[in-house]
Amino acid sequence: MGLLDGKVAFVTGAGRGIGRAIVEAFTAEGAIIAAAARTTKEITALCADINASGGRAVPITMDIRSEESIKEAISKAQSELGPIDVLVNNAAIIALGKIHEMATQTWDDVMSTNVRGVFLTCREVLPQMMERRTGRIINVGSTAGRRGYDEQGAYCASKHALAGLSKVLAIETKKYGIRVQMLSPGGVLTGLSSDLRASRGEAEDSPDWMTTEEIARAAVYLCSQDGAAFTDELVLRRYASEPWR
Ligand SMILES: NC(=O)c1ccc[n+]([C@@H]2O[C@H](COP(=O)([O-])OP(=O)(O)OC[C@H]3O[C@@H](n4cnc5c(N)ncnc54)[C@H](OP(=O)(O)O)[C@@H]3O)[C@@H](O)[C@H]2O)c1
Repeated sequence: MGLLDGKVAFVTGAGRGIGRAIVEAFTAEGAIIAAAARTTKEITALCADINASGGRAVPITMDIRSEESIKEAISKAQSELGPIDVLVNNAAIIALGKIHEMATQTWDDVMSTNVRGVFLTCREVLPQMMERRTGRIINVGSTAGRRGYDEQGAYCASKHALAGLSKVLAIETKKYGIRVQMLSPGGVLTGLSSDLRASRGEAEDSPDWMTTEEIARAAVYLCSQDGAAFTDELVLRRYASEPWR
């Protein structure tokens, strides 16, 4: 019996990277998946694989910068799969560059994807969770939500904002039995961090960087917390990085 047997999980940014690994790990635990992202081809192929091997997954094309798109996506997931038990706000983008050289549009894109998109998605999902007095929300943050990194002004600002949003969300939803958690990794081997590795002269497949599977295992662990013990934020740093930073 899986930890998430029959639970409906809505995962944003599900087409690749960490989101995809979370979908696969949740599927292995028996979850029913709504896999959301903009690139229909990626989520369709992922869901086809899951459905072909006995799981259940529905691809949902969604752009979290658009309020209308989010409303349609949540409505589609709920009508096809039933109420959402677990929401994983994972989709995000990064833009590297010094603050004094950053275009306004770059700042707006990062903030509207990484913060506004999470706010809008939560606002859309919360009413049914509050009504059912149950639910779990995992916001994928970053160590960039705890400290500053050179050339990551908008990204760090967005992840700090996400931490603030997560704290208030946890306070406001506790009385409805909703469990809000943050999963905050450092460097993970995905497309998002590929330019960062290149700018530091590190290998694309550096063994010092975490794998998506390691992050997905942590997401499953957070879902195992149904009792008295609870983790508000789970921070995963690279073992190769400096301890306690
Ligand atoms: N990789 C790292 O080193 C690292 C470290 C710490 C935290 N994180 C966090 O982990 C999460 C996942 O990152 P990742 O590294 O897996 O990134 P990734 O490989 O670039 O994947 C990002 C996913 O988000 C989706 N996405 C981006 N913009 C979107 C939009 N407007 N609407 C809907 N979906 C959108 C992408 O799909 P489409 O482009 O098809 O929409 C893709 O599926 C993010 O929150 C990131 O901040 C990553």
